[in-house]
Amino acid sequence: MMLIDGPSRLMGELEVQGAKNSTLPLLAGALLCRGQTVLHNCPELSDVDAAVKILEHLGCRCKREGHDLTIENGVTCHEIPEELMRRMRSSIVFLGAIISRCGEARLCSPGGCELGPRPIDLHISSLKKLGVQVKESGGWLHCSAPGGINGAYVSLSFPSVGATENLILAAVCGSGTTIIANAAREPEISDLCEYLNRCGGRIYGAGESCIIIDGVKELYGAEHRVMPDRIAAVTYMAAAAVTGGNVTLRDVDNTHILPMLTPFEESGCRVRQLGGCLDILAPKRLSAVRHIRTMPYPGFPTDAQPVVMAMAAVGDGTSVFVENIFENRYRHAEGLSRMGARVKVEGKVAVVEGVPELTGATVEAMDLRGGAALIVAGLCAQGSTKVRGMEYVERGYEKIGEHLSELGAKIKSF
Ligand code: UD1
Repeated sequence: MMLIDGPSRLMGELEVQGAKNSTLPLLAGALLCRGQTVLHNCPELSDVDAAVKILEHLGCRCKREGHDLTIENGVTCHEIPEELMRRMRSSIVFLGAIISRCGEARLCSPGGCELGPRPIDLHISSLKKLGVQVKESGGWLHCSAPGGINGAYVSLSFPSVGATENLILAAVCGSGTTIIANAAREPEISDLCEYLNRCGGRIYGAGESCIIIDGVKELYGAEHRVMPDRIAAVTYMAAAAVTGGNVTLRDVDNTHILPMLTPFEESGCRVRQLGGCLDILAPKRLSAVRHIRTMPYPGFPTDAQPVVMAMAAVGDGTSVFVENIFENRYRHAEGLSRMGARVKVEGKVAVVEGVPELTGATVEAMDLRGGAALIVAGLCAQGSTKVRGMEYVERGYEKIGEHLSELGAKIKSF
């Protein structure tokens, strides 16, 4: 549980962690490489720990020293047990790498999750195009590639991040050429491809909607620095914004932040981006963030919607959100309302009438980014806010309580 005594104005400097959503596919990528991979700037998170457990279960040796994670490849097993799959739904991203490396894979179906049903139909149908055979029985997926992974043209009906990653991981060591049309363009995809290419892969077009992969025989482990976490960055920006603060973030890739800048500008924050730093200076009272429509990159990311809603809750005026990516992504609205926010949700639309002030309350994190939104709200609320369900938040934010305390928040974690 996190106890926040608000409000306090956040001031100072903070180094942003490495990206969780990049680390997970990179760890899957390490399965494809002979020898050793060293990931630098690897965040210390429970989701990363879960991914490391999967690698160890599959036969790799992993060693962490601070933010450096070394993976010695030694895959001997092609099955991820149920307990490890359940710890982290996104472990489906290991499928492509395991099938490519072992010729078969056995995974328990990831099922539903806190963001609503999380289908894997696109992962499965596109891997089938590469020659993967899939059988489902008793909640398990049995995949095999008797004729190997063969390059193909795959057009995704939606630019799914996970499906694009799985395809890349399956195809990079396959035979022939794979073309992914309508591929996801998220920066984490580019980070994965940069690493795989450094290991000997031949992937072209990452960051664009058409990715071409010329299969290679083998990959060799390499060193790679995980890209900065754009969602952690925007979370600390929102925390600075709601508290009328002035915060400088270090280790930010400013091009990744651009799609998220508009609500900060609309609400009256001054954001300066210089090199790898970002400085945000917030007004005493925010204005409304106006319109947010979540979209695949380079649109406004769904992962940033909850923390920006916390800003809208105290912005002067009305803001409208349209959540286009996940079905069940307004679960923080209840906690925000408990703190005095005026939020009305109907289907994929949420209308937020900003109030001058929130009041501390006991609230429950229902998912990772929603939990972060409740923390952001707690920082500007009058009195004490208890955020329960911190295990969700810890899946994606390294030492969030300590970082916010360093910036001047009054926080205790239990
Ligand atoms: C990744 C991120 C997550 C982020 C999301 C969207 C990781 C570990 N997670 O999740 O933080 O919120 O991208 O930017 O990187 N879909 C299908 N069938 C599929 C796959 C997806 O219908 O086979 C749908 C999903 O239900 C969802 C949408 O496509 O509605 C987007 O999903 P996707 O881009 O795949 O997100 P993830 O890779 O799961």
